[in-house]
Amino acid sequence: MKSLKHIKGILDLPVVRQAYSTNLTKMPALQPKKLKGRMFSVQAALPKYPVAPLEQTLKKYLKSLEPLLTEDEYRHTEKLCKEFENGVGKTLQAKLIERAEKHDNWLSDWWKSVAYLGFREPVVINSNPGVLFPKADFSGTQGQIEYASKLIAGLLDYKVMIDDQTLPVEHLGKNPLCMMQYFQVLAACRIPLEKHDDWACYPPDRPGAPKHITVIYNNNIFEVPVYGDDGNPLTISQVRNQLLEVVNQGSTPGEPIGLFTMEHRDNWSSVYKKMIQDKTNKASFDSVQRSIIVLCLDQSNDFGNDPRTVSGHQMLHGGGPSLHSGNRWFDKTIQFIVGADGYSGLNYEHTTAEGPPIIHVMDHCLNFLANGKEWSPASDVKPPTKLQFNLTNDVSKSLTLAKENSARMVNDLDLKVFVFDEFGKNFPKSQKVSPDSFIQNAIQLAYYRHHRKTCGSYESASIRMFQQGRTETIRSCSTESFEFTKAMMDSNTSKQKKAELLRRAINSHKQYTNDAISGKGIDRHLLGLKLTALENNMEMPELFKDKAYTFSGSWRISTSQVPAKSESVLFFGPVMPDGYGFCYNPQEKCILFGVSSFKSNNVTLPAAKMADLIKDSLNDMRDVMASSMKANL
Ligand code: COA
Repeated sequence: MKSLKHIKGILDLPVVRQAYSTNLTKMPALQPKKLKGRMFSVQAALPKYPVAPLEQTLKKYLKSLEPLLTEDEYRHTEKLCKEFENGVGKTLQAKLIERAEKHDNWLSDWWKSVAYLGFREPVVINSNPGVLFPKADFSGTQGQIEYASKLIAGLLDYKVMIDDQTLPVEHLGKNPLCMMQYFQVLAACRIPLEKHDDWACYPPDRPGAPKHITVIYNNNIFEVPVYGDDGNPLTISQVRNQLLEVVNQGSTPGEPIGLFTMEHRDNWSSVYKKMIQDKTNKASFDSVQRSIIVLCLDQSNDFGNDPRTVSGHQMLHGGGPSLHSGNRWFDKTIQFIVGADGYSGLNYEHTTAEGPPIIHVMDHCLNFLANGKEWSPASDVKPPTKLQFNLTNDVSKSLTLAKENSARMVNDLDLKVFVFDEFGKNFPKSQKVSPDSFIQNAIQLAYYRHHRKTCGSYESASIRMFQQGRTETIRSCSTESFEFTKAMMDSNTSKQKKAELLRRAINSHKQYTNDAISGKGIDRHLLGLKLTALENNMEMPELFKDKAYTFSGSWRISTSQVPAKSESVLFFGPVMPDGYGFCYNPQEKCILFGVSSFKSNNVTLPAAKMADLIKDSLNDMRDVMASSMKANL
């Protein structure tokens, strides 16, 4: 993830301008060229993110519109593309190339601003994903503390590789990837500001790099040192002692200040502005922002008959003010969440990183839980400190409002977390096709089964093969996928033909994926041209005012593959009111899914019903492929 949701609102000219007049980070900009450890050994050699040829992008853009537009609409957009290519597009392209020459990555600052910090809707559900870990065998406060202590010790063990820059360089196929996100995930926080948020980051090469975590228990927020004064990380038993102290001190429920981080960003920033006038509040906020991560120790849950989905809600939004939502700080890049009943997971704020680095941290911690090690105890360990917040009457009233708003938001989100266990990556691989492209076509089929049409469909592709790369869009609805989905629902089409169309749809998706990850996608390029026009006070080209541009980028299907070594699963909210969110972790013999929709929308299906359609689609696709294989033998 994440698609550029509500882009019209984000791209209001004043907001974009403000992004450039705002000091975006509290710290001086990162200087990748100064990072010399093994983790960055190939960083300087990574290619710069290219600006694709204009003609190529427009051609692909038109192709992506084929399944979405009527003949007349298509002809209209085709004409606009020609005019753009021969007119203002040339000027914009030249200016964009000029920008690319001056920056390590022409997109990255824009992206951080436009996709994240300028986004004003609540980060919860709309931007922050949740992750559910495999169920562990613990219960009660003692078990919870034991598990959380190992998790934190695992994190400290991982952090050594970040601090020393010894983390092995990640690869996609044979290509090394940019490691910058890894360097920042254990040090960052979003900060609410009017119109455009700020982002603070304290990576290990800077003075004041964090030595504590934030722990939230019973809505009480604590600063918990996880290094001794000798600079050594705490052992499992030392972390355990710290957490037991938190539980002792936090037995009385605190004010659910964390609910403010679920608010619309303009509401939250106005409360924040008032609160930081008070020195105690300012120091408490600073402590949370400067911490390594947040650890949320939750109370127990009523799991009903679907504990996975109930826990999914807990990780994504906390379940509302009457459950765990006040026990959170959703502005923090990583929040580990440990329930009292064996369920745990995390929630992450998206400005700093995509899923893969977060999942890498998580996989290390989960592995540490199973095979943990001890080291020499740290000395001179400071005890936890409960952070104090002074609330004026005005702020208390805002908190009451935040409770109402968060309850409404949480009640509207429908989620289904499930494991498809008929097969996993093994089946598509046995058919010599890409598992990701197979699953994407299953999502297309599931949507078509109910809606009998297709829609703008987003899948995130990593562009970390480039310096400071983030994501590009894979437009996973294509002419080929649409032909395939229609054929699957047509009883007159033979299985052989269906299989042929499926393979064609898969190959088309895989081709788009390969293009997207190698800098030949279209959405970031088009965004760059649009932002260039805005930044240069130029009249907005007709191409970007065209209905087709908005419609094709209204991602009613928003998807992401986030693979993990463990059987964990990530999920997020839909990015359109009448859309779905789909996330999956393909394992060799099963696929874990998180599917979401909004209850208030009467066009979309409940998440559980959409989940059933995904299962049916996967099974039907396996049948047509397997039977066509037999027929060919
Ligand atoms: N025949 C046999 N095997 C094949 C195959 C084929 N034709 N095509 C692919 N495979 C294999 C691959 O070798 C790979 O094997 P592995 O399991 O041993 O690693 C496996 O199938 C998976 O490949 P595929 O399903 O094609 O996906 P991918 O791993 O290339 O991932 C993306 C595709 C788009 C998900 C990936 O490129 C990407 O960009 N990931 C990051 C997305 C992201 O950032 N998400 C988070 C957003 S918050």
